[in-house]
Amino acid sequence: MYKQAPNPKLLIDRFGREIDYIRLSITDRCDFRCVYCMSDNMTFLAREAVLSLEEYARLVKVFVELGVRKVRITGGEPLMRKNALQLFEAIGRLPGLEELLITTNGSQLEQHAYALKQAGVNRVNISLDSLNATRFRKITRVGDLDKVLRGIAVAKQAGFETIKLNALLMRGINDDEALPLAAFAIEQGLDISFIEEMPLGEVQHSRSASYVSNDETLQLLRSRYDLINSTATTCGPARYWQVPSKKTKIGFISPHSHNFCEACNRLRISCQGELHLCLGQENRINLRPMLRDFPYDDGPLKQAIINSMQVKPKGHDFDLNRSTPAVIRFMSHTGG
Ligand code: GTP
Ligand code: 5AD
Ligand code: SF4
Repeated sequence: MYKQAPNPKLLIDRFGREIDYIRLSITDRCDFRCVYCMSDNMTFLAREAVLSLEEYARLVKVFVELGVRKVRITGGEPLMRKNALQLFEAIGRLPGLEELLITTNGSQLEQHAYALKQAGVNRVNISLDSLNATRFRKITRVGDLDKVLRGIAVAKQAGFETIKLNALLMRGINDDEALPLAAFAIEQGLDISFIEEMPLGEVQHSRSASYVSNDETLQLLRSRYDLINSTATTCGPARYWQVPSKKTKIGFISPHSHNFCEACNRLRISCQGELHLCLGQENRINLRPMLRDFPYDDGPLKQAIINSMQVKPKGHDFDLNRSTPAVIRFMSHTGG
C-alpha cells in the first residue's frame, strides 16, 4: 500500500520550534485602506518589484519539501492580484500540503469563493470590523459593507471547512461592536477572532489611545455568553472559547496582553520574496536572488531557508507607548 512520505521537518529554529506554516503575501495592494493598516498616503510597489505567480508557486513547493504543511495566502488583499486563482490551483495540487488557507477582506469573495473552494482552499478568514455601513466605510476609508456581507454569504454556500471573521476593535471607533459582531458570527455559524492592534507602520491615529485589550473584550463577552475555554487550536496565536451549543468559537489574538511567541510555528514571505522570520522584528532574508539566479536548481534556495532558522528571533517586542512604530513596514507589505 502507498505510504505517505514522513514530514521531513527540516525547519527547526534555535529554540526548538518546528516551522510547518508559511504565510505568503502575494500583493501589497488592497482595495481598502483600513485606518489601522495603512496611512492615508500609501505608495505601493511597482509591479516589477513583486514576484511572479510562478515564483510564488516554486517557493511554496520548496517550503513543502522542507516540511511545511500549511500555507496561508495573504496580502494586501490577495484577490487583488491578477490571476491569483491560478496560484491557488497550483498550490492546491502540491502533494504533502495539508492546508491551503486565505485571509481576505471579503470584497471579492462573491465572485471568487466557489473557485477558491474548487482550487482546494480549506478555510477562509475574512476581516470584519463593523456591521454599521457608515462606520465600516470610515474604518476601511473606502469599503462597502454590503459587498463584504454578500461575499460572506457566498463563501458560506461554497462550503469551506470553517470561515473565521477577524475583528479589530479601536477605542472610540468600534469598541462597542464586540457583542454585535459576536452575535452576527453566532447567528451565521462562523468563528470570530478579536485582534489587538499592532504597531506596524505609521498611521494617522495614536495606537496607544485606540488600543482595546482583549481581556476587556473577553470579559464583556463572558457577561453575555457562558463561554467555555476551548483547547481547540489552529497552532496559531488565537486562544479560543466555545459558545455553548453553537458552532461558533470566539478567538482572541492578543500580542500585547498574552504573548504567544514561544509556540511560533510560522514564517512570512513578503510579496517581494523576503523571508520575514517574525512579524514584529526586522530579521529577514531576501530569497529573490536564489530564485532568479538559480532558476533550475532549488538547492541554494533550500539552503538559505534552512540557514534562516539560525536568525529567527525569540519573539516580538511590540510596545504601544513608543513614539515610533516597532516595525516600519505595514501589515499589508508583510502579510498579516
Ligand atoms: P491561523 O493561522 O489559521 O490560526 O489563523 P490566524 O488567525 O493566525 O490567521 P489570520 O490571517 O486571520 O490572522 C489574524 C491576525 O493574527 C493577523 O492578521 C495578525 O494580526 C495576527 N497574527 C497572526 N500570526 C501572528 C504572529 O505570528 N504574530 C503576531 N504578532 N500576530 C499574528
Ligand atoms: N494590527 C493588528 N492587525 C492588523 N491587521 C492589519 N493591520 C493590523 C495591525 N496594525 C489585520 C486585519 C486583518 C488582517 C489581515 O490583518 O485586521 O484581519
Ligand atoms: Fe486591506 Fe486588510 Fe489592510 Fe484593510 S487590513 S487595508 S483590508 S490589507
